[in-house]
Amino acid sequence: MFSKETYVERRLRLKRAMGSGLLLFFGNNDAPSNYPANAYKFRQDSSFLYYFGLQREGLVGVIDIDNDRETLIGDDIDIDDIIWTGYVPSVKELGESVGVAHAAPMAELQNIVNRAKTQGQSVHFLPPYRHDHMIQIADLLGIHPLQTRDAASVALIKAVVDMRAVKSAEEIEEIERAMEIGYLMHTTAMKACRPGVTEQHIAGLLEGIAHGNGCKVSFQTILSMHGEIQHGYPSMRPLEAGRLMLCDAGAETNDNYCSDNTRVTPISGKFTQRQLDIYTIVEACHDLVLEKARPGLKWLDMHLDVCRLMTDRLKDLGLMRGNTDDAVAAGAHAMFLPHGLGHMMGMDVHDMEGLGQVYVGFDDEVRPSTQFGTNCLRCGRRLQPGFVMTDEPGIYFIPHLIDLWRSQGLHKEFINYDLLETYKDFGGIRLEDDILITDDGNRVLGKQIIPYHPADVEEFINA
Ligand code: GLY
Ligand code: MN
Ligand code: MN
Repeated sequence: MFSKETYVERRLRLKRAMGSGLLLFFGNNDAPSNYPANAYKFRQDSSFLYYFGLQREGLVGVIDIDNDRETLIGDDIDIDDIIWTGYVPSVKELGESVGVAHAAPMAELQNIVNRAKTQGQSVHFLPPYRHDHMIQIADLLGIHPLQTRDAASVALIKAVVDMRAVKSAEEIEEIERAMEIGYLMHTTAMKACRPGVTEQHIAGLLEGIAHGNGCKVSFQTILSMHGEIQHGYPSMRPLEAGRLMLCDAGAETNDNYCSDNTRVTPISGKFTQRQLDIYTIVEACHDLVLEKARPGLKWLDMHLDVCRLMTDRLKDLGLMRGNTDDAVAAGAHAMFLPHGLGHMMGMDVHDMEGLGQVYVGFDDEVRPSTQFGTNCLRCGRRLQPGFVMTDEPGIYFIPHLIDLWRSQGLHKEFINYDLLETYKDFGGIRLEDDILITDDGNRVLGKQIIPYHPADVEEFINA
Protein backbone atom coordinates (compact mmCIF):
# COMPACT_ATOMS: atom_id res chain seq x y z
CA MET A 1 0.00 0.00 0.00
CA PHE A 2 1.26 3.47 -0.85
CA SER A 3 0.90 6.51 1.43
CA LYS A 4 -2.48 8.07 2.18
CA GLU A 5 -1.44 11.09 0.06
CA THR A 6 -1.10 8.93 -3.05
CA TYR A 7 -4.74 7.85 -2.87
CA VAL A 8 -5.99 11.33 -1.97
CA GLU A 9 -4.10 12.80 -4.91
CA ARG A 10 -5.34 10.13 -7.34
CA ARG A 11 -8.97 10.73 -6.35
CA LEU A 12 -8.45 14.48 -6.71
CA ARG A 13 -7.10 14.05 -10.24
CA LEU A 14 -9.99 11.75 -11.09
CA LYS A 15 -12.56 14.24 -9.75
CA ARG A 16 -10.99 16.99 -11.87
CA ALA A 17 -11.03 14.75 -14.95
CA MET A 18 -14.68 13.76 -14.46
CA GLY A 19 -15.99 17.19 -13.42
CA SER A 20 -19.26 15.95 -11.90
CA GLY A 21 -21.28 12.88 -10.96
CA LEU A 22 -21.42 10.09 -8.41
CA LEU A 23 -18.59 7.59 -8.87
CA LEU A 24 -18.93 4.06 -7.50
CA PHE A 25 -15.93 1.74 -7.16
CA PHE A 26 -16.89 -1.80 -6.22
CA GLY A 27 -14.23 -3.60 -4.22
CA ASN A 28 -14.21 -7.38 -4.59
CA ASN A 29 -15.93 -9.87 -2.31
CA ASP A 30 -14.51 -13.21 -1.28
CA ALA A 31 -15.06 -15.70 -4.10
CA PRO A 32 -16.03 -19.28 -3.18
CA SER A 33 -14.13 -22.11 -4.78
CA ASN A 34 -16.24 -25.22 -4.07
CA TYR A 35 -18.44 -24.15 -1.15
CA PRO A 36 -19.12 -20.72 0.35
CA ALA A 37 -16.60 -20.79 3.19
CA ASN A 38 -13.81 -22.23 1.04
CA ALA A 39 -12.77 -19.10 -0.80
CA TYR A 40 -10.01 -18.49 -3.33
CA LYS A 41 -7.20 -16.31 -2.03
CA PHE A 42 -8.69 -12.82 -1.91
CA ARG A 43 -7.85 -10.55 -4.83
CA GLN A 44 -8.99 -6.95 -4.59
CA ASP A 45 -10.26 -5.16 -7.69
CA SER A 46 -7.41 -3.21 -9.27
CA SER A 47 -9.26 0.08 -9.87
CA PHE A 48 -10.61 0.01 -6.31
CA LEU A 49 -7.05 -0.55 -5.14
CA TYR A 50 -5.76 2.26 -7.33
CA TYR A 51 -8.08 4.85 -5.74
CA PHE A 52 -8.67 3.39 -2.28
CA GLY A 53 -5.69 1.10 -1.60
CA LEU A 54 -7.62 -1.17 0.78
CA GLN A 55 -7.37 -4.95 0.72
CA ARG A 56 -10.51 -5.82 2.74
CA GLU A 57 -13.38 -7.58 0.98
CA GLY A 58 -16.92 -6.17 0.89
CA LEU A 59 -16.19 -2.46 0.36
CA VAL A 60 -17.50 0.13 -2.09
CA GLY A 61 -15.79 3.47 -2.58
CA VAL A 62 -18.14 6.36 -3.32
CA ILE A 63 -16.99 9.71 -4.68
CA ASP A 64 -19.74 12.31 -4.87
CA ILE A 65 -18.09 15.05 -6.89
CA ASP A 66 -21.04 17.46 -6.86
CA ASN A 67 -21.44 17.39 -3.08
CA ASP A 68 -17.67 17.09 -2.42
CA ARG A 69 -18.09 13.98 -0.29
CA GLU A 70 -16.14 10.73 -0.24
CA THR A 71 -17.59 7.71 1.56
CA LEU A 72 -16.30 4.23 2.20
CA ILE A 73 -19.20 1.80 2.28
CA GLY A 74 -18.98 -1.52 4.10
CA ASP A 75 -20.24 -3.45 7.10
CA ASP A 76 -18.10 -3.66 10.21
CA ILE A 77 -17.40 -7.18 11.32
CA ASP A 78 -18.64 -8.46 14.69
CA ILE A 79 -17.29 -10.96 17.22
CA ASP A 80 -18.71 -13.93 15.27
CA ASP A 81 -16.39 -12.93 12.41
CA ILE A 82 -13.49 -11.81 14.60
CA ILE A 83 -13.00 -15.29 16.04
CA TRP A 84 -12.22 -16.48 12.48
CA THR A 85 -10.42 -13.48 11.05
CA GLY A 86 -8.86 -11.74 14.04
CA TYR A 87 -9.45 -8.03 14.60
CA VAL A 88 -10.17 -5.99 11.48
CA PRO A 89 -10.25 -2.16 11.69
CA SER A 90 -13.66 -0.55 11.30
CA VAL A 91 -14.76 0.74 7.91
CA LYS A 92 -14.43 4.27 9.30
CA GLU A 93 -10.82 3.61 10.35
CA LEU A 94 -10.02 1.97 7.03
CA GLY A 95 -11.44 4.95 5.15
CA GLU A 96 -9.49 7.43 7.26
CA SER A 97 -6.27 5.53 6.55
CA VAL A 98 -6.64 6.52 2.88
CA GLY A 99 -8.07 9.99 3.47
CA VAL A 100 -11.77 9.16 3.06
CA ALA A 101 -13.74 11.22 5.58
CA HIS A 102 -17.05 9.35 5.71
CA ALA A 103 -18.14 5.76 6.24
CA ALA A 104 -21.52 4.04 5.96
CA PRO A 105 -22.93 0.51 6.09
CA MET A 106 -23.69 -1.36 2.85
CA ALA A 107 -27.45 -0.82 3.25
CA GLU A 108 -26.85 2.91 2.84
CA LEU A 109 -25.55 2.50 -0.74
CA GLN A 110 -29.06 2.15 -2.18
CA ASN A 111 -30.08 5.41 -0.49
CA ILE A 112 -27.02 7.20 -1.87
CA VAL A 113 -27.77 6.00 -5.40
CA ASN A 114 -31.49 6.84 -5.09
CA ARG A 115 -30.68 10.34 -3.84
CA ALA A 116 -28.25 10.89 -6.72
CA LYS A 117 -30.88 9.81 -9.24
CA THR A 118 -33.50 12.08 -7.67
CA GLN A 119 -31.09 15.00 -7.84
CA GLY A 120 -30.34 14.26 -11.50
CA GLN A 121 -26.73 13.29 -10.82
CA SER A 122 -25.16 10.84 -13.24
CA VAL A 123 -24.02 7.61 -11.61
CA HIS A 124 -20.72 6.25 -12.96
CA PHE A 125 -19.27 2.79 -12.40
CA LEU A 126 -16.77 0.56 -14.19
CA PRO A 127 -17.79 -2.61 -16.09
CA PRO A 128 -18.30 -5.43 -13.57
CA TYR A 129 -16.57 -8.74 -14.32
CA ARG A 130 -17.85 -10.71 -11.30
CA HIS A 131 -21.42 -11.91 -11.11
CA ASP A 132 -21.96 -10.78 -7.52
CA HIS A 133 -21.20 -7.21 -8.63
CA MET A 134 -23.49 -7.56 -11.64
CA ILE A 135 -26.34 -8.52 -9.32
CA GLN A 136 -25.50 -5.76 -6.84
CA ILE A 137 -25.43 -3.11 -9.57
CA ALA A 138 -28.61 -4.53 -11.12
CA ASP A 139 -30.35 -4.17 -7.76
CA LEU A 140 -29.05 -0.65 -7.22
CA LEU A 141 -30.08 0.59 -10.66
CA GLY A 142 -33.11 -1.57 -11.40
CA ILE A 143 -31.67 -3.13 -14.56
CA HIS A 144 -30.99 -6.74 -15.59
CA PRO A 145 -27.61 -8.12 -14.40
CA LEU A 146 -26.59 -8.85 -18.00
CA GLN A 147 -27.04 -5.17 -18.87
CA THR A 148 -24.63 -3.95 -16.22
CA ARG A 149 -21.46 -4.11 -18.33
CA ASP A 150 -23.11 -2.10 -21.09
CA ALA A 151 -24.45 0.37 -18.52
CA ALA A 152 -20.93 1.14 -17.28
CA SER A 153 -19.65 4.69 -17.71
CA VAL A 154 -17.47 5.26 -20.76
CA ALA A 155 -16.39 8.62 -19.31
CA LEU A 156 -15.20 6.94 -16.10
CA ILE A 157 -13.50 4.11 -18.01
CA LYS A 158 -11.59 6.64 -20.10
CA ALA A 159 -10.59 8.74 -17.10
CA VAL A 160 -9.38 5.68 -15.18
CA VAL A 161 -7.48 4.31 -18.18
CA ASP A 162 -5.74 7.67 -18.71
CA MET A 163 -4.49 7.59 -15.13
CA ARG A 164 -3.65 3.91 -14.69
CA ALA A 165 -1.89 3.62 -18.08
CA VAL A 166 0.92 5.97 -17.00
CA LYS A 167 2.84 4.41 -14.14
CA SER A 168 4.30 6.58 -11.38
CA ALA A 169 7.79 6.09 -9.96
CA GLU A 170 6.39 4.25 -6.93
CA GLU A 171 4.40 1.93 -9.16
CA ILE A 172 7.48 1.16 -11.24
CA GLU A 173 9.36 0.38 -8.04
CA GLU A 174 6.67 -2.15 -7.13
CA ILE A 175 6.76 -3.69 -10.62
CA GLU A 176 10.55 -3.96 -10.26
CA ARG A 177 9.95 -5.96 -7.07
CA ALA A 178 7.69 -8.33 -8.99
CA MET A 179 10.38 -8.61 -11.69
CA GLU A 180 12.96 -9.67 -9.11
CA ILE A 181 10.73 -12.50 -7.93
CA GLY A 182 9.93 -13.33 -11.55
CA TYR A 183 13.68 -13.64 -12.21
CA LEU A 184 14.01 -16.17 -9.39
CA MET A 185 10.95 -18.08 -10.61
CA HIS A 186 12.18 -18.37 -14.18
CA THR A 187 15.81 -19.10 -13.45
CA THR A 188 14.73 -21.84 -11.02
CA ALA A 189 12.48 -23.38 -13.68
CA MET A 190 15.28 -23.23 -16.25
CA LYS A 191 17.74 -24.93 -13.90
CA ALA A 192 15.23 -27.63 -12.95
CA CYS A 193 14.40 -28.40 -16.59
CA ARG A 194 15.75 -31.82 -17.54
CA PRO A 195 14.43 -35.06 -19.00
CA GLY A 196 12.18 -37.05 -16.68
CA VAL A 197 11.02 -34.16 -14.45
CA THR A 198 7.30 -33.42 -14.83
CA GLU A 199 5.95 -30.10 -16.07
CA GLN A 200 3.85 -29.83 -12.91
CA HIS A 201 6.89 -30.38 -10.67
CA ILE A 202 8.72 -27.46 -12.28
CA ALA A 203 5.62 -25.27 -12.15
CA GLY A 204 5.31 -26.14 -8.45
CA LEU A 205 8.89 -25.06 -7.76
CA LEU A 206 8.35 -21.81 -9.62
CA GLU A 207 5.05 -20.99 -7.92
CA GLY A 208 6.53 -21.86 -4.53
CA ILE A 209 9.11 -19.14 -5.07
CA ALA A 210 6.35 -16.62 -5.73
CA HIS A 211 4.46 -17.61 -2.58
CA GLY A 212 7.59 -17.88 -0.46
CA ASN A 213 8.52 -14.33 -1.38
CA GLY A 214 5.18 -12.92 -0.31
CA CYS A 215 3.76 -12.96 -3.82
CA LYS A 216 1.32 -14.99 -5.82
CA VAL A 217 1.51 -15.80 -9.51
CA SER A 218 0.16 -13.00 -11.68
CA PHE A 219 -1.79 -15.49 -13.84
CA GLN A 220 -2.09 -19.24 -14.17
CA THR A 221 1.38 -20.53 -15.05
CA ILE A 222 1.86 -21.71 -18.63
CA LEU A 223 4.52 -24.40 -18.71
CA SER A 224 4.59 -27.04 -21.40
CA MET A 225 6.57 -28.95 -23.98
CA HIS A 226 3.67 -27.92 -26.24
CA GLY A 227 4.64 -24.29 -26.49
CA GLU A 228 2.36 -24.03 -29.52
CA ILE A 229 -0.66 -24.22 -27.17
CA GLN A 230 -1.13 -20.62 -26.02
CA HIS A 231 -2.54 -21.66 -22.68
CA GLY A 232 -0.57 -24.87 -22.23
CA TYR A 233 -0.93 -25.55 -18.52
CA PRO A 234 1.54 -27.93 -16.84
CA SER A 235 0.72 -31.63 -17.05
CA MET A 236 2.05 -34.66 -15.17
CA ARG A 237 4.00 -35.67 -18.28
CA PRO A 238 7.77 -36.02 -17.79
CA LEU A 239 9.88 -33.69 -19.91
CA GLU A 240 11.37 -35.41 -22.96
CA ALA A 241 14.95 -35.09 -24.19
CA GLY A 242 15.27 -33.11 -27.41
CA ARG A 243 12.13 -31.03 -26.89
CA LEU A 244 11.72 -27.46 -25.65
CA MET A 245 10.02 -26.33 -22.43
CA LEU A 246 8.10 -23.06 -22.78
CA CYS A 247 7.46 -21.29 -19.48
CA ASP A 248 5.28 -18.16 -19.30
CA ALA A 249 4.86 -17.02 -15.71
CA GLY A 250 4.94 -14.00 -13.47
CA ALA A 251 4.81 -12.80 -9.90
CA GLU A 252 2.25 -10.49 -8.34
CA THR A 253 3.35 -8.64 -5.22
CA ASN A 254 1.20 -8.21 -2.11
CA ASP A 255 0.41 -4.75 -3.46
CA ASN A 256 -0.72 -6.45 -6.67
CA TYR A 257 1.84 -5.28 -9.20
CA CYS A 258 2.85 -7.89 -11.75
CA SER A 259 5.64 -9.35 -13.82
CA ASP A 260 5.15 -11.41 -16.99
CA ASN A 261 8.04 -13.24 -18.67
CA THR A 262 8.40 -16.14 -21.07
CA ARG A 263 11.48 -18.25 -21.62
CA VAL A 264 12.13 -21.40 -23.63
CA THR A 265 14.64 -23.95 -22.38
CA PRO A 266 16.12 -26.90 -24.30
CA ILE A 267 15.30 -29.94 -22.17
CA SER A 268 18.53 -31.71 -23.19
CA GLY A 269 20.62 -28.67 -22.22
CA LYS A 270 21.45 -27.68 -25.78
CA PHE A 271 19.37 -26.33 -28.68
CA THR A 272 19.32 -28.33 -31.91
CA GLN A 273 20.09 -26.45 -35.13
CA ARG A 274 16.42 -26.59 -36.14
CA GLN A 275 15.42 -25.11 -32.78
CA LEU A 276 18.06 -22.41 -33.11
CA ASP A 277 16.78 -21.50 -36.58
CA ILE A 278 13.41 -20.60 -35.09
CA TYR A 279 14.64 -19.33 -31.71
CA THR A 280 16.97 -16.77 -33.25
CA ILE A 281 14.10 -15.33 -35.31
CA VAL A 282 12.04 -14.81 -32.16
CA GLU A 283 15.12 -13.37 -30.44
CA ALA A 284 15.60 -10.87 -33.30
CA CYS A 285 11.91 -9.86 -33.12
CA HIS A 286 12.13 -9.42 -29.34
CA ASP A 287 15.27 -7.30 -29.70
CA LEU A 288 13.75 -5.16 -32.47
CA VAL A 289 11.22 -3.91 -29.92
CA LEU A 290 14.00 -2.98 -27.48
CA GLU A 291 15.65 -1.05 -30.28
CA LYS A 292 12.54 0.75 -31.55
CA ALA A 293 9.94 1.23 -28.81
CA ARG A 294 9.71 4.89 -27.81
CA PRO A 295 7.06 7.54 -27.10
CA GLY A 296 4.92 8.42 -30.11
CA LEU A 297 5.36 5.07 -31.85
CA LYS A 298 2.10 3.27 -32.59
CA TRP A 299 2.27 -0.16 -30.93
CA LEU A 300 0.32 -1.51 -33.94
CA ASP A 301 3.18 -0.37 -36.20
CA MET A 302 5.69 -2.04 -33.86
CA HIS A 303 3.65 -5.24 -34.06
CA LEU A 304 3.58 -5.08 -37.88
CA ASP A 305 7.35 -4.32 -38.03
CA VAL A 306 7.93 -7.48 -36.00
CA CYS A 307 5.60 -9.45 -38.31
CA ARG A 308 7.58 -8.25 -41.34
CA LEU A 309 10.93 -9.16 -39.79
CA MET A 310 9.55 -12.57 -38.83
CA THR A 311 8.23 -13.10 -42.36
CA ASP A 312 11.58 -12.13 -43.91
CA ARG A 313 13.41 -14.57 -41.67
CA LEU A 314 10.86 -17.36 -42.25
CA LYS A 315 11.36 -16.78 -45.97
CA ASP A 316 15.11 -17.35 -45.45
CA LEU A 317 14.22 -20.74 -43.95
CA GLY A 318 11.87 -21.52 -46.82
CA LEU A 319 8.77 -21.64 -44.61
CA MET A 320 7.29 -18.49 -46.16
CA ARG A 321 7.67 -16.95 -49.62
CA GLY A 322 6.43 -14.06 -51.75
CA ASN A 323 6.40 -10.36 -51.04
CA THR A 324 6.78 -9.66 -47.32
CA ASP A 325 4.54 -6.59 -47.19
CA ASP A 326 1.80 -8.42 -49.09
CA ALA A 327 2.11 -11.49 -46.85
CA VAL A 328 1.74 -9.41 -43.69
CA ALA A 329 -1.06 -7.28 -45.16
CA ALA A 330 -2.91 -10.52 -45.99
CA GLY A 331 -2.30 -11.91 -42.49
CA ALA A 332 -0.35 -14.98 -43.66
CA HIS A 333 2.25 -14.53 -40.88
CA ALA A 334 -0.50 -15.30 -38.33
CA MET A 335 0.02 -18.99 -39.13
CA PHE A 336 3.18 -18.56 -37.02
CA LEU A 337 2.25 -15.61 -34.77
CA PRO A 338 -1.49 -15.79 -34.05
CA HIS A 339 -1.35 -13.30 -31.14
CA GLY A 340 -0.32 -9.71 -30.52
CA LEU A 341 3.16 -8.43 -29.80
CA GLY A 342 2.33 -7.37 -26.26
CA HIS A 343 -0.06 -5.74 -23.83
CA MET A 344 0.00 -3.16 -21.06
CA MET A 345 1.00 -4.51 -17.65
CA GLY A 346 0.52 -3.11 -14.17
CA MET A 347 -1.78 -4.22 -11.38
CA ASP A 348 -3.49 -6.54 -13.85
CA VAL A 349 -1.10 -8.63 -15.85
CA HIS A 350 -3.21 -7.68 -18.88
CA ASP A 351 -3.62 -4.24 -17.45
CA MET A 352 -7.18 -2.95 -17.24
CA GLU A 353 -8.42 -5.61 -19.67
CA GLY A 354 -11.66 -5.83 -17.67
CA LEU A 355 -12.41 -2.20 -18.53
CA GLY A 356 -12.66 -3.08 -22.22
CA GLN A 357 -9.68 -3.48 -24.53
CA VAL A 358 -11.08 -0.96 -27.00
CA TYR A 359 -10.68 1.77 -24.38
CA VAL A 360 -7.36 0.57 -22.98
CA GLY A 361 -5.38 -0.17 -26.13
CA PHE A 362 -7.10 1.83 -28.85
CA ASP A 363 -8.35 5.33 -29.56
CA ASP A 364 -9.85 7.40 -32.37
CA GLU A 365 -6.59 7.15 -34.32
CA VAL A 366 -5.91 3.42 -33.98
CA ARG A 367 -8.83 1.01 -34.05
CA PRO A 368 -8.70 -2.73 -33.32
CA SER A 369 -8.12 -5.06 -36.28
CA THR A 370 -10.55 -7.82 -37.20
CA GLN A 371 -7.90 -9.89 -39.03
CA PHE A 372 -7.03 -13.28 -37.51
CA GLY A 373 -3.92 -12.86 -35.37
CA THR A 374 -3.79 -9.05 -35.31
CA ASN A 375 -7.26 -9.11 -33.72
CA CYS A 376 -5.49 -10.47 -30.61
CA LEU A 377 -3.31 -7.36 -30.33
CA ARG A 378 -4.51 -5.86 -27.05
CA CYS A 379 -3.00 -2.44 -27.63
CA GLY A 380 -2.37 -0.54 -30.86
CA ARG A 381 -2.17 3.10 -29.86
CA ARG A 382 0.81 5.42 -29.58
CA LEU A 383 3.17 4.78 -26.69
CA GLN A 384 3.63 7.35 -23.93
CA PRO A 385 6.35 7.72 -21.29
CA GLY A 386 5.27 5.70 -18.26
CA PHE A 387 3.52 2.94 -20.22
CA VAL A 388 4.64 -0.56 -19.24
CA MET A 389 4.34 -2.99 -22.15
CA THR A 390 5.18 -6.62 -22.64
CA ASP A 391 7.41 -7.52 -25.58
CA GLU A 392 6.41 -11.08 -26.44
CA PRO A 393 6.84 -12.28 -30.01
CA GLY A 394 6.54 -15.98 -30.69
CA ILE A 395 6.60 -18.58 -33.46
CA TYR A 396 4.32 -21.58 -33.13
CA PHE A 397 3.66 -24.68 -35.21
CA ILE A 398 0.01 -25.52 -34.51
CA PRO A 399 -0.88 -28.81 -36.22
CA HIS A 400 -4.63 -28.14 -36.35
CA LEU A 401 -4.12 -24.66 -37.80
CA ILE A 402 -1.69 -26.01 -40.40
CA ASP A 403 -4.20 -28.70 -41.43
CA LEU A 404 -7.10 -26.24 -41.54
CA TRP A 405 -5.41 -23.54 -43.59
CA ARG A 406 -3.84 -26.12 -45.89
CA SER A 407 -7.20 -27.77 -46.54
CA GLN A 408 -8.63 -24.32 -47.35
CA GLY A 409 -5.65 -23.42 -49.56
CA LEU A 410 -5.34 -20.28 -47.43
CA HIS A 411 -2.30 -18.05 -48.11
CA LYS A 412 -0.69 -20.82 -50.16
CA GLU A 413 1.18 -18.18 -52.17
CA PHE A 414 2.96 -17.15 -48.95
CA ILE A 415 3.26 -20.40 -46.94
CA ASN A 416 5.30 -23.45 -47.93
CA TYR A 417 2.93 -26.10 -46.59
CA ASP A 418 5.13 -29.05 -47.68
CA LEU A 419 8.00 -27.81 -45.52
CA LEU A 420 5.65 -26.74 -42.74
CA GLU A 421 4.37 -30.34 -42.45
CA THR A 422 7.82 -31.33 -41.21
CA TYR A 423 7.56 -28.86 -38.29
CA LYS A 424 4.33 -30.25 -36.81
CA ASP A 425 6.30 -31.87 -33.98
CA PHE A 426 8.23 -28.69 -33.15
CA GLY A 427 6.08 -26.97 -30.52
CA GLY A 428 6.47 -23.22 -30.10
CA ILE A 429 8.82 -20.49 -28.95
CA ARG A 430 8.00 -17.20 -27.26
CA LEU A 431 10.29 -14.75 -25.51
CA GLU A 432 8.73 -12.19 -23.21
CA ASP A 433 10.09 -9.26 -21.24
CA ASP A 434 8.43 -6.19 -19.78
CA ILE A 435 9.52 -2.72 -20.83
CA LEU A 436 8.99 0.78 -19.48
CA ILE A 437 8.55 3.49 -22.08
CA THR A 438 10.88 6.31 -21.06
CA ASP A 439 11.13 9.90 -22.30
CA ASP A 440 13.35 8.92 -25.21
CA GLY A 441 13.03 5.14 -25.65
CA ASN A 442 12.49 2.21 -23.36
CA ARG A 443 14.20 0.09 -20.76
CA VAL A 444 13.71 -3.52 -19.82
CA LEU A 445 12.28 -3.81 -16.32
CA GLY A 446 14.10 -5.97 -13.80
CA LYS A 447 17.56 -5.51 -12.29
CA GLN A 448 18.61 -8.85 -13.74
CA ILE A 449 17.48 -10.02 -17.14
CA ILE A 450 16.56 -13.70 -17.30
CA PRO A 451 19.03 -15.22 -19.80
CA TYR A 452 17.55 -15.45 -23.29
CA HIS A 453 20.34 -15.28 -25.87
CA PRO A 454 20.81 -18.96 -26.83
CA ALA A 455 24.47 -19.17 -25.78
CA ASP A 456 23.59 -17.51 -22.43
CA VAL A 457 20.70 -19.93 -21.88
CA GLU A 458 22.91 -22.97 -22.53
CA GLU A 459 25.71 -21.62 -20.35
CA PHE A 460 23.29 -20.78 -17.53
CA ILE A 461 21.46 -24.10 -17.40
CA ASN A 462 24.66 -26.14 -17.65
CA ALA A 463 26.68 -24.15 -15.09
N1 GLY B 1 0.16 -15.40 -20.52
C1 GLY B 1 -0.19 -14.08 -20.42
C2 GLY B 1 0.54 -13.27 -21.38
O1 GLY B 1 1.72 -13.41 -21.57
O2 GLY B 1 -0.02 -12.40 -21.97
MN1 MN C 1 3.24 -14.01 -20.39
MN1 MN D 1 2.13 -11.24 -21.59
